[in-house]
Order: sequence, then structure tokens, then C-alpha cells
Amino acid sequence: MASETQLFSADLISPKVLEALPKGYTARPLQRTDFKEGHLDVIRDLAYVGDITEEQWTERFDLMHRCTGTYYVVVIVDQNREGGKIVGTGTLMVEKKFLFKLATQGHIEDIAIKSDQQGKKLGLRLIEALDYVAEKVGCYKTILDTSEEKEGFYEKCGYEKAGSEMHHFF
Ligand code: ACO
Repeated sequence: MASETQLFSADLISPKVLEALPKGYTARPLQRTDFKEGHLDVIRDLAYVGDITEEQWTERFDLMHRCTGTYYVVVIVDQNREGGKIVGTGTLMVEKKFLFKLATQGHIEDIAIKSDQQGKKLGLRLIEALDYVAEKVGCYKTILDTSEEKEGFYEKCGYEKAGSEMHHFF
């Protein structure tokens, strides 16, 4: 069961991923106190974040928490690190469809490993952890958008190229 303080149940964290992580690292659901653990500093390495206060961050956490079964944010934690201990984060968003006999599809979003922690297979473990959640909650597949230079990483995680991305800004 999810609690007030964690986004979803820790039972959905893959035991195989926990075992495969380097010593001193763990993976867990995002927690309501993770602003202080450096969650935003990790996604700042991925894209523009802007000035977000702890209160605003917590409101967003609470909103995601209320959308039961939709948002699964997994974080990778370096337990020995001084200060913010989060070194990786990624999101699975679960979409309920009418298509394909009421299928459930997962969207992988906002994958980031802190720049000084890249190259230790943490990104691979993060995707494995999100894919495990996706399978457990009934997704028939997961999809994602990425840039050409990151395609090799996702191929290493078992993904295949399919389709092309389009966007429309407002
Ligand atoms: N191109 C090709 N192969 C790659 C790349 C790449 N850009 N990056 C990693 N790999 C390979 C590694 O060499 C490794 O291969 P191996 O098993 O043969 O040794 C394998 O992929 C796993 O690599 P990891 O060590 O797990 O990668 P890392 O922990 O550094 O994480 C990530 C990769 C997430 C892309 C990281 O570099 C990062 O956070 N970058 C900045 C943010 C970013 O671009 N995120 C992705 C946005 S797309 C999205 O969010 C859906």
C-alpha cells in the first residue's frame, strides 16, 4: 500500500534491481520529504526546472499521490552521500485506454542520473525498476521519447525504435 509519505508501495520495487545496484545504493518510491534529498537537483541535469519552492514541490507530490495508479516516480539513492542523497529519478505514467480492449500503457518520462554518477549502470537499473512497476500494474508496453544520442542507452535497456515524436507548444 502507498502511504501518505510515499508515492506508491515499496512492494513494487523490483527485488532484482535492489540486488543488482552497486553497494550503498538503493531504489525506492519518491517520498514527500524528497525535496530536501535533492530531487530537483537531479532533474535539473535533464532540463529546465525553474524556481520551485518546497511548498510547491510538495503540492505537486500530493496531487500525484491523489491520482491513484497513475504516477510512479522511482528514485535511486546513494546512502553514503553527504547532503542530497538522490542521484537518479524517473517516472512511469500509466495511461488507461479504450483501445486494444481497454489496454493499459506506460509512459517513461524524466529519466535522469546525476552527472557525477553516470556510467555506473544506475540508468539501466532505473529503467528496469520502472519497467517492473509497469508490468506489475498491468501495462502491455511502455513507450518513451528521446533524442538520437540517447537511443543507444535505451536499446541497452531493451527498447526498440518505433515511430517518430511530434510536439505542439502552447
Ligand atoms: N548512447 C549509447 N549508449 C549509452 C549512452 C548513450 N548516450 N548512455 C549510456 N549508454 C550505455 C552504457 O555504455 C551502458 O552500456 P554497457 O551495458 O554496454 O556498459 C548502458 O547504456 C547502461 O548505461 P548506464 O551506466 O546505466 O547509464 P547512466 O547511468 O549514465 O544513465 C542516462 C544514462 C540516463 C541517459 C544518463 O546519462 C543521464 O541522466 N543523462 C542526462 C539526462 C538524460 O538525457 N536523460 C534521458 C532523457 S529521455 C527521457 O527522459 C525519456
